[in-house]
Amino acid sequence: MDLYIEKVRSINEKREAPPLAHVHNYGCQLNVTDGEKLKGLLFKMGFGFTEVPEEADLVIFNTCAVRENAEERVFGNLGFLKHYKEQKKEMIICVSGCMTEQADVVEKIRSSYKYVDIVFGTNAFDRFPKYVFEVLEGRKHVYDETGPGKDVSEGNEQIRSSTFKASVPIMYGCNNFCTYCIVPYVRGRERSRLPELIIDEVRGLVNEGYKEIMLLGQNVNSYGNDLEDGIKFPELLRRINAIEGDFIIRFMSSHPKDAGKDLIDALADCEKAGHFLHLPVQSGSNSVLERMNRRYTAEKYLEIIDYAKSKDPDFTFSTDILIGFPNETDEEFEDTLKLIEKVRYSNIYSFIYSKRTGTKAALIDDKTPYSAKQERMQKLLELQRKITTEDYKKYIGRTLEVLVDGPGKGGEGTLTGKSREFIIVNFRGDSSLTGNFVKVKITGARNWALDGELAD
Ligand code: 5AD
Ligand code: SF4
Repeated sequence: MDLYIEKVRSINEKREAPPLAHVHNYGCQLNVTDGEKLKGLLFKMGFGFTEVPEEADLVIFNTCAVRENAEERVFGNLGFLKHYKEQKKEMIICVSGCMTEQADVVEKIRSSYKYVDIVFGTNAFDRFPKYVFEVLEGRKHVYDETGPGKDVSEGNEQIRSSTFKASVPIMYGCNNFCTYCIVPYVRGRERSRLPELIIDEVRGLVNEGYKEIMLLGQNVNSYGNDLEDGIKFPELLRRINAIEGDFIIRFMSSHPKDAGKDLIDALADCEKAGHFLHLPVQSGSNSVLERMNRRYTAEKYLEIIDYAKSKDPDFTFSTDILIGFPNETDEEFEDTLKLIEKVRYSNIYSFIYSKRTGTKAALIDDKTPYSAKQERMQKLLELQRKITTEDYKKYIGRTLEVLVDGPGKGGEGTLTGKSREFIIVNFRGDSSLTGNFVKVKITGARNWALDGELAD
C-alpha cells in the first residue's frame, strides 16, 4: 500500500497547491470512523481537505445501506457531482461503504453513473491508494467487488473530526441476521479486535485529551466470541475503565439476547461508563420479535431492565424501535407502546421499516399500508414526548456532569452538551468550555432537553 501512497504523493507534490479531498459520510458512527481512516490515507497521499464538494479534486461518498432513504440521498448527491465534474474534468469521484457491497448498486453505478471513477467496499482501504494512482494515470473505472472483509485491518491512522470525542471500533461485522437488516450482508461476519490493541488505542486517545470514548460494534455483547482466550465485553469495559484519566466510556450497540447481568454489573462498577445503556429492542411484540429473528422475548428484555433498575432506580435506557415490520398489526404495535411505558426510555431512535433487497423480510408480502406505519410513528413519538416531559422533571434541582459539545442554538453565550445519561443539556457559558466536563445545575425540563446553569 505504501508504494502507491508514495506514488500518488509524488504526483500531488508536483502540483502548485495540494489537491483537495472531500469525504462525505452517510449513516452510522462506524462509517464516520471509516471516513476518518480514508482521510488518514488521503492525507498521506498529499491531499488537503475541503468541506465544499465543488471545490474538491477528489470526492468520496462513504455510503450507508441500512435504509432506502440513505441510498436515495447518495444517488441524488451523485447527480449534483455530475455537474461539477462537467466543469472540472479531472475531478475523481469515489463511492465507498456499505452500499457498494450490493451487486445491484454497483450495477446501477456502472450503467447510470458512468462518471464515478472508483467504487470500493468496506474492506478495500488497503487497495484505495492503488486505485487513486491508476485513475490519475488514466484508468477509466475501478469497481472493486471483493466483498466484505474476513479479518480486522489495523494500523490505519485516522484524521478525527473531533478533538474530544473519539470512536473506537472493537469489532466488525454481524452474525445475527435479523430478518430486516442488511448489515450482515454488507459488513460480513463478526470479528473482534485484540483487547490489547483496543486498550492501547484508548490509552493513547485519553493521553491526547479525548474525553469521550465510544466503543463501536454491531453487537458489542458478542465481543471476543471469535478470539481464542479472548475476554468478553464486560471484562473489556472493566479494563478500559481502569485506564487513568478524565474520560467517559460509551458504547453501541448492544443486542439484548447477549446482554446479561454481567454487563449490568460491569456498568454498575465502572464509574466511567455510568448507569446508562442503549439497548435496541426494535419491538415489544413477541410475535414480531420472532419474525425479526431477534431471539429474545419482551419478558426477557424487561428482566435485564428490571435487574439494572434494581441496582439503581435511576439507571437510564435508550433504544431503537423499528415501526411497521411487514404485516405488523395494530395489536402488535400496541405491545411496543406497552413496553415503552414499562421501560420509560430517556431517548428513542425510531425508524419506519425499509425493505432491503437480499434480506429475508424483503420476501414477505407486506399488507400494512405505509400510512398506518406513519400513524404508528406519530403515536410512538407522542408517547415518548409524554414520558420525557414527565421524567426529565426529576432532574430539576440536580447537578449533572455534562460534556460540552459547543455553542447552543440560543445564540451568543449559549452552550449545549450531553449528560452522562446522554440527555441534551442547554445552559449559558463561554464557548472556551467546549470539550470539557462541567457541572450543570438543572433548572428546567423540556420534552427533548434539559435547561440549566453552570454550577461551578
Ligand atoms: N429499516 C428500517 N430501520 C432499520 N434498522 C435496521 N434495518 C432497518 C430497516 N431495514 C434500524 C434498526 C437498527 C438501527 C441501527 O437501524 O432499528 O437498530
Ligand atoms: Fe442488523 Fe440485527 Fe446485526 Fe443489528 S444485530 S446489525 S439489527 S442484523
